[in-house]
Amino acid sequence: MIPVTPLANEKPSALATDISERLNAAIREHLLSAFAPDSTKTLRSFSAPEAAELLGVSGQFMRKLHSEGTIPEPEDVRGGRRFYTAQEVWDAREILEKSSRKKGRYLPRRSGDEKLQVWQLMNFKGGSSKSTTSIHLAHYFALRGYRVLVVDLDPQGSLTSMCGISPEIEFDGLTVYDAIRYDDPVSMADVVVPTYFPGLSIAPSRLMLSEFETESAVHSNPDQPFFTRIRNALSQVEGDFDLVLMDSPPQ
Ligand SMILES: Nc1ncnc2c1ncn2[C@@H]1O[C@H](COP(=O)(O)OP(=O)(O)OP(=O)(O)O)[C@@H](O)[C@H]1O
Ligand SMILES: [Mg+2]
Repeated sequence: MIPVTPLANEKPSALATDISERLNAAIREHLLSAFAPDSTKTLRSFSAPEAAELLGVSGQFMRKLHSEGTIPEPEDVRGGRRFYTAQEVWDAREILEKSSRKKGRYLPRRSGDEKLQVWQLMNFKGGSSKSTTSIHLAHYFALRGYRVLVVDLDPQGSLTSMCGISPEIEFDGLTVYDAIRYDDPVSMADVVVPTYFPGLSIAPSRLMLSEFETESAVHSNPDQPFFTRIRNALSQVEGDFDLVLMDSPPQ
């Protein structure tokens, strides 16, 4: 340890303590407002024209579906105008798909021998919009009726935060590390959690994921090479999704 010698006539401890206390108070205040236990992320509702566009039908056809009672009224009707939650749009998809002559018109899920799509966004540069692009793609496809899984492979956990989970503060949930670790991994099905955004689930991340790299360096079992770990984890939940988007750390 390097001894810190105060300058002549200076009383560093009082000044340092004062700065430290003020910084700590400011950080505490920020954390309390940013991570209040009851503040959860929510998704806005969609106007009737937006809902029609998401379903790929005209506004006139939507009104007809309501007047015939084919799809239920949304909970939120203000001044004669309908506002739909993303879940209500999903429910309408399910109903319309059942009576649709063209399979997949409203629920464009993969079927038969169509394979799970796995996309990974990467760029060997920090701050180049990997996480932002991942979440935008995920929202886009989830709103269009695909079952989307985002896998946060960045120990920074930005994508996890974007999905409404705060990796900065302790949370008890499992993370993707728990599914790919070499020692007694858990099932990926236990790691994946639904988000506030209908159609979108996440395998969250936090700092612990960085251990995987260290463990991979010392792990010598040729039956479990590091590059098969994520593939194996994904295969355990493959049937539940149409698209997997993986966000990478800069390295
Ligand atoms: N199209 C955009 N227009 C403006 N700002 C953007 C755009 N895309 C991303 N950003 C901003 O750039 C910053 C970095 O984006 P992001 O976190 O997605 O990058 P990243 O590549 O995931 O970073 P990291 O390497 O740290 O994981 C963020 O503040 C984000 O809001
Ligand atoms: Mg990122």
